[in-house]
Amino acid sequence: MTPGDAMALGGLGLQRSLERADYVEEERYAREQEVVLSSDWFCVGRSEALARSGEYLAVEVAGEALLVIRGADGELRCFYNLCRHRGTRLVPSSSHGPDAPGTPSGRFGRVVTCPYHAWSYGLDGVLRRAPFLPQALRLKDQLSLHEIAVESWGGFVFVRLCSDKQEPSLGERLSEVQKRLAHYRLSDLRIGRRLIYRVAANWKVILENYNECYHCGPVHPELCRLVPDFSRGGAGLNWDEGIPHRAGATTFTMSGRTDREPFPDLLPEERSRHRGELVLPNLMLSLSCDHIAAFSLWPESAAYTTVVCDFLFTTDAISAPNFDPEDAVGFWDLVNGQDWYICEQVQAGMRSRMFTVGWLSELEEPSADIGAYIRARGLGGSRAQSRPESPRRSS
Ligand code: FES
Ligand SMILES: [Fe+2]
Repeated sequence: MTPGDAMALGGLGLQRSLERADYVEEERYAREQEVVLSSDWFCVGRSEALARSGEYLAVEVAGEALLVIRGADGELRCFYNLCRHRGTRLVPSSSHGPDAPGTPSGRFGRVVTCPYHAWSYGLDGVLRRAPFLPQALRLKDQLSLHEIAVESWGGFVFVRLCSDKQEPSLGERLSEVQKRLAHYRLSDLRIGRRLIYRVAANWKVILENYNECYHCGPVHPELCRLVPDFSRGGAGLNWDEGIPHRAGATTFTMSGRTDREPFPDLLPEERSRHRGELVLPNLMLSLSCDHIAAFSLWPESAAYTTVVCDFLFTTDAISAPNFDPEDAVGFWDLVNGQDWYICEQVQAGMRSRMFTVGWLSELEEPSADIGAYIRARGLGGSRAQSRPESPRRSS
């Protein structure tokens, strides 16, 4: 493309996407790990997996293996998953991939013991024992586990590798989302089913796809039959009010109906409309009246992302003897498959030397938020520009 072509496209009201290198080059991905994924709140799962003292999640964030542990005092803490003696992994780390996805979990006793020479640490990360080296305990301030920030919101657990006092706290960051979703009582919900996908696409391709409905007509025929407004290319969707389903439909299932009760605190319009939120960098929420699809993205390299899709329900729904989430799970699996397939085609196309940059129309305006988020952190090619960030789900 010549500079003249680019100007002409700009004149049509199209704005530049991130550049090819931002999607396909490992060097750029390594910078993102450092500058973006390490320095923002990254969702690592649901706190229900960490309900009891000693329960842990072993996760990998921005290339670093971490342990999130519920302490004996009830507090959540997060540590680097490495022994202070010689650096051994305390828990075998998860390598992202189809056989070893996202988040192995388990439960420690009262201590975490290194498998190499059996140094052990309390659930608070403090060195408790170093066999035959009692003098090591005198230096326990220097020899305790490396700790990082962890916080919860709505039943989700977030960690941040590099804390910057200038950055807003998690609560401040999500205060508007909290207001919009208050009636769903996210903290009270539990996982009824989990699907895990390994997608051959850059994590930002998946986010950008999530944030626009320009693709809904060509890619999601069943979804458009359920939500006719989605077939208009994303024009006129009012996510603050929620998106109505077709007449007689209230939820994301093939029939648009379900036997499950709506969440108890929802307003009448929330009982029949669909909502969505994007919590950058890696949590996508799709909210129906009776279930929520919560997608956490686990970037693995420039070209691969593991997506963990948790289906959240009320505890009453899950404990019902006839609980069967398949109506929602099956429909979502269909829609997800369509999304992952097209994201993989985007990634494959962008690898060509002929691709330099994409063009976002007004219909894809919310997708531009992902580029703005990256550029605000000093990445995103040479065109650093700041633009207010308003990460909301469009589709
Ligand atoms: S490396 Fe952990 S005890 Fe030696
Ligand atoms: Fe989609």
